[in-house]
Amino acid sequence: MNTIRPLDHIARTKPYVPGGKLHGAAGPVAMLASNENPFGASPLAIEAVRKAAGSGLEVYPDPDYGELRAAIAAAKGIKDVGRVVTSAGSDEIIHLLTQCYAGPGDEVLFTEHAFSMYEVSARGHGATVIKAPETDMTAGVNAILGAVSPKTKILFLANPNNPTGTMLSVDALKSLQDALPDHVLFVVDGAYSEYLGPEYEAALRDLVDRGDTTVMMRTFSKIYGLAALRLGWAYMPAAIAETYQRIRGPFNVNTLAAAAGIASVGDEAFLKLSRDHNTEWRAKMTDALNAMGLVTPVSHANFVVSEFGNAERAAAAFQHLKDQSILVRAIAGYGLPTKLRITIGSAEDNTRCLDALKAFTALR
Ligand SMILES: Cc1ncc(COP(=O)(O)O)c(C=O)c1O
Repeated sequence: MNTIRPLDHIARTKPYVPGGKLHGAAGPVAMLASNENPFGASPLAIEAVRKAAGSGLEVYPDPDYGELRAAIAAAKGIKDVGRVVTSAGSDEIIHLLTQCYAGPGDEVLFTEHAFSMYEVSARGHGATVIKAPETDMTAGVNAILGAVSPKTKILFLANPNNPTGTMLSVDALKSLQDALPDHVLFVVDGAYSEYLGPEYEAALRDLVDRGDTTVMMRTFSKIYGLAALRLGWAYMPAAIAETYQRIRGPFNVNTLAAAAGIASVGDEAFLKLSRDHNTEWRAKMTDALNAMGLVTPVSHANFVVSEFGNAERAAAAFQHLKDQSILVRAIAGYGLPTKLRITIGSAEDNTRCLDALKAFTALR
């Protein structure tokens, strides 16, 4: 027995609960639990990974990631490459920004049903977690501002949010940005922004340029279909980027991930294919689920959230789907025990899921 113990605040931190896998399932699995792209990755990314894997695996990546950052900047209309940073999945950006700006005695603010890595990271760095209440699973500017204190160091806001699929308008984001005191770093998480299209992506980029305390973070795990490679990026004010670069691991993005990102960040055809499929099937799923009496509000992301009336029925529906090798996401850990989150998958998987839920609702 040794006496090695983690720091108290680490011991108090509950780990992130991922969507999981269905190991040993009979037949094909409909994986609708982690908001992955049913089209996989862009063919350009796959080709680039093949090529990059062919030689040079013994060589460290370029620690500056200049080509990757330039490709991101060019694809997203960002003029100053120096303010683009990259990461091993966007989870790393959450951790590094928290590490840079919040510690014991500081507050990290997010909303009631926010993406849970914000809480893991805040607690893991010893900061105090503050949650602003939501109304109908939606963040509100006044509620957020009401939760700001002199100790608030960071506000994380996913827009659209996971797991709710709801979002604030661009005008609301601007009002929030204007009203936030300048001691608060405003981190807008655009993990699902590509599903709204280039205009919205540009609006988030421009939000960063409106102030000197706003960061936009992004991921290649969702519409780009590169979750396995772990690649994220962010656009931020120069002083924040300089701070971030101080503690970033020099080779945090692996060479295969960088190659895939460079090849596919500007693949507008793949983005459009994925976005159009999502828009079409999200509407179909929303209508069909509502028609079954499973109240499913409008979502702005690549998943929907359905209400089952009570926690027992939601758990039974989860199990009913799982028994048929259909995995969706239970979100009790997000304070939403009566609901399930369902990723928009392939036409086949969506249909399987709807048919299984039709059978379920006919019985109970
Ligand atoms: C809102 C939001 N932000 C960040 C992430 C993290 O993504 P990754 O670390 O794969 O880039 C996710 C993943 O589910 C998410 O939903």
